[in-house]
Amino acid sequence: MASFTLAPFSKGPESFSQEYAASLDAQDPLRELRKEFIIPTHDDTRTKRIADSSTVQTLSGQTKSRTGDECTYLCGNSLGLQPRRTRDYVERYLNTWAIKGVNGHWQKLEDGDYRPWVDMEEDLKPQMSKIVGAQESEIAVMETLTANLHLLMASFYRPTEERYKIIIEGKAFPSDHYAVQSQLHLHNLHHSEALVELNPPEPNSSLLPTSYILSVIDAHASSTALLLLPGIQYYSGQLFDIPTITAYAQERGITVGWDLAHAVGNVPLQLHDWNVDFAAWCNYKYMNGGPGVIGGLFVHERHGNVASPTEGSNEVSEKGLGFRPRLSGWWGSEKSARFRMGSQFVPLPGAAGFRLSNQSVLDCTAVLASLSVYGQTTMQDLRAKSLHLTAYLEHLLFDDVPGEKSEDRPYSLITPTVPEERGAQLSLLLKPGMLDFVQAELESQGVIVDERRPDVIRVAPAPLYNNYTDAWKFTKIFKESCKKVLEAQNGQNGH
Ligand SMILES: Cc1ncc(COP(=O)(O)O)c(C=O)c1O
Repeated sequence: MASFTLAPFSKGPESFSQEYAASLDAQDPLRELRKEFIIPTHDDTRTKRIADSSTVQTLSGQTKSRTGDECTYLCGNSLGLQPRRTRDYVERYLNTWAIKGVNGHWQKLEDGDYRPWVDMEEDLKPQMSKIVGAQESEIAVMETLTANLHLLMASFYRPTEERYKIIIEGKAFPSDHYAVQSQLHLHNLHHSEALVELNPPEPNSSLLPTSYILSVIDAHASSTALLLLPGIQYYSGQLFDIPTITAYAQERGITVGWDLAHAVGNVPLQLHDWNVDFAAWCNYKYMNGGPGVIGGLFVHERHGNVASPTEGSNEVSEKGLGFRPRLSGWWGSEKSARFRMGSQFVPLPGAAGFRLSNQSVLDCTAVLASLSVYGQTTMQDLRAKSLHLTAYLEHLLFDDVPGEKSEDRPYSLITPTVPEERGAQLSLLLKPGMLDFVQAELESQGVIVDERRPDVIRVAPAPLYNNYTDAWKFTKIFKESCKKVLEAQNGQNGH
């Protein structure tokens, strides 16, 4: 297994050249992992017909070989690229279904080291649990992110007369806002009285300092039931101090949940050791499982106990249940009971007891393929590369070339400048009126990044497949685009 050690990059004039970026690529101990992914060609990004793509023709075994330059894909924070091996995994799934039908659920095949479909989650858990820093019993691969947040809040948000508020960020991802508000409404609470929003305390910043978050927790400590925050903020790219915030809120009697959409597979997590109450994530961003693929959730082991109804050891067992109340489905129930078709729900211990439906095997197959790529490295090594690569991108974007006139930049960084306070993503705030032109220009030159209106582009070098040349190419084309738009604007203004 390669481990990541790379000397700090130079900040001298040579560091701004393509050759220098290529030399960093050549030294990158994780460089082979890029080959695990299908990087679309520039032509692929423009074609209007799948059949015309040389990539697809090559992958499907036709004679044409892959042609054209690879595009510069820096959008893994939105949708990760397709691992090459996903096609083989999915083909195996299709073949199993084709030859076994329903028996694919139970029958172990001799070629391949995989469990039958009913037990397939067990193949996913070893790697998934490492990525989020959990015990295998604390995670479930299930449903999708917003649905999982709802399921978790149904169980963990249990407002009382005294404690009923939920603290989230004012700029939370819209789906989280909707989910939280609807949970309040279902409890007959109105968001105007029960929703506390964290908003950046500094007028020209998108960031939420930890000290500010803790002060808001203090201000609402006795009336708050739940704190729900993102591990990494989708817009600013800020990485929150999960252990400090979790401990602080819990000491004040608040339950703490995390939306890890932008953190999973991006930064190392230690959900168990950090004592997080619950968390949920998607597997289509840095996890590369494919669009809308099945997500995951974490429930700390102390919440997953299942006692016999009479033992009464669980915190909510005064109701005689022996387990934490939840929205239940048959796939969360004891396996032995599953096909007995009884009406009494007894959950599996741990996160598995929060599952509802039998999981999409097609989805799990795609996630398994992606996890097997993660299996070739560690989150620590990926993080080490990510810190280095993102810092290099920041250097190219924001440092002046030594000896040259300093640049007048029409963009600024809204992501923290402290590397430990961010993940892979840098969010660039453009001057008003530039975004459409810059984005069109980037696309026309084969650069794929994500835009957030009115003025932000998010650039995410994913350490599994992005390289230093990607950072270099992006910066070159981005700077040229900015220059062009400014010239056009100045022309219009008669300058
Ligand atoms: C931070 C965050 N939360 C929630 C969601 C919603 O995810 P889903 O559509 O999988 O429910 C997203 C989607 O990108 C997200 O970025």
